[in-house]
Amino acid sequence: MTTRILTGITTTGTPHLGNYAGAIRPAIVASRRADMDSFYFLADYHALIKCDNPARIQRSRLEIAATWLALGLDTDKATFYRQSDIPEIPELCWLLTCVAGKGLLNRAHAYKASVDKNVEAGEDPDAGVTMGLFSYPVLMAADILMFNAQKVPVGRDQIQHVEMARDIGQRFNHLFGQGKDLFKLPEVVIEEDVATLPGLDGRKMSKSYDNTIPLFGSSKQLKDAVARIVTDSRQPGEAKDPDNSHLFTIYQAFAAPTQQADFRAALLGGLAWGEAKQALYELLEAELGEARERYHALIARPADLEDILLAGAAKARKIATPFLGELREAVGLRSFREQVQVATDSKKKAAKRARFVSFRDEDGSFRFRLLDADGEQLLLSPAFADGKAAGQASKGLQSGEPLDIRVQGNAFGVWLNDQLVGESPAFADAAAVEVAIARLRDALAPEEA
Ligand code: TRP
Repeated sequence: MTTRILTGITTTGTPHLGNYAGAIRPAIVASRRADMDSFYFLADYHALIKCDNPARIQRSRLEIAATWLALGLDTDKATFYRQSDIPEIPELCWLLTCVAGKGLLNRAHAYKASVDKNVEAGEDPDAGVTMGLFSYPVLMAADILMFNAQKVPVGRDQIQHVEMARDIGQRFNHLFGQGKDLFKLPEVVIEEDVATLPGLDGRKMSKSYDNTIPLFGSSKQLKDAVARIVTDSRQPGEAKDPDNSHLFTIYQAFAAPTQQADFRAALLGGLAWGEAKQALYELLEAELGEARERYHALIARPADLEDILLAGAAKARKIATPFLGELREAVGLRSFREQVQVATDSKKKAAKRARFVSFRDEDGSFRFRLLDADGEQLLLSPAFADGKAAGQASKGLQSGEPLDIRVQGNAFGVWLNDQLVGESPAFADAAAVEVAIARLRDALAPEEA
């Protein structure tokens, strides 16, 4: 049994070293495991919520795709696609929107933060809040539930969104599953041991703090960024404190254990910060140099990237298209063709439930008619002297025993134990007699379970 793991990357920026250590590298490692079936995608619909600059959206999609491939994501094994190439996702998003509680979404952190900011500034609480921002968690739920992902690795800020996906999925299951779970409920995965990488100034590496180390800048850009890492003022020869040095923390994230031990010893032994930076630069260059070449080669061939992503989308849609079909069925968006089928089926059933109507003749004798579901007369019984005989005859017709039908001219009679129990009306020709017999058999056939 493989575990399906899925995560999205919002395409608004250019990946930096912190994204690599915190998200991309562990994801690529996971995608190689035989017991994992990984789905990674560019969350470019999500990007539209945060960014209305088309050139930036386009550039970021290209860069992020190239980054993941350059770093070794194997697209034969993993399913790698753009969210916007899967039309089933926004369609599912709508189905989920119709069951997601507004109250649930009111509680989403990202939306609440905007409201709080507005209120503080004395503005209308919803100033600048789009429906995209408000519904962000529903789209994310659609991303996850579309593929029945079991594990969703995300940063801490996204935990609530995965929980909302569970809530929404559960509600949908309850409403439409008829006792069966249409969606598997996802679990959030926070990788505890991938420390968030500190940036140049020691705070978490983040574009919003402008303290990042570029992933695929030139060697010179890498060297310059490393040179700007803030250190303390200890002089060459003075012992450094590795545990309070974010330069060491960054080094640790990319070094083998023995390298880490050697570097720690060197810092304690008074290694100059300049030399320490050179060592970090060399370590990063070794880690990223080849990938950087691959990255630039990929960026130079955007049409190839397009092909790779479209192949990924085709792979994803092999799952999404039939599954969405099931979900449409579940909510009642069904083909009318099938509806017609259902109608004829029930007509057949109704026909089988043909009615016996008993009545008394003027002379007091007992008779019955057999009417089909449309009220048309199939049989008229002869006159019986008492009601009990008439009842037995009609019961006999419904017993499921083979019918003894005897055709006479353009009409027929039905016999039970050599006694006539019903006669058909007269028909125009023998063909009409055939049809009427077939209808009678159908009407009297035992009900299917
Ligand atoms: N919202 C996520 C983020 O900003 C990106 C994302 C979109 C995602 N859809 C997802 C992550 C589905 C996991 C699963 O990081």
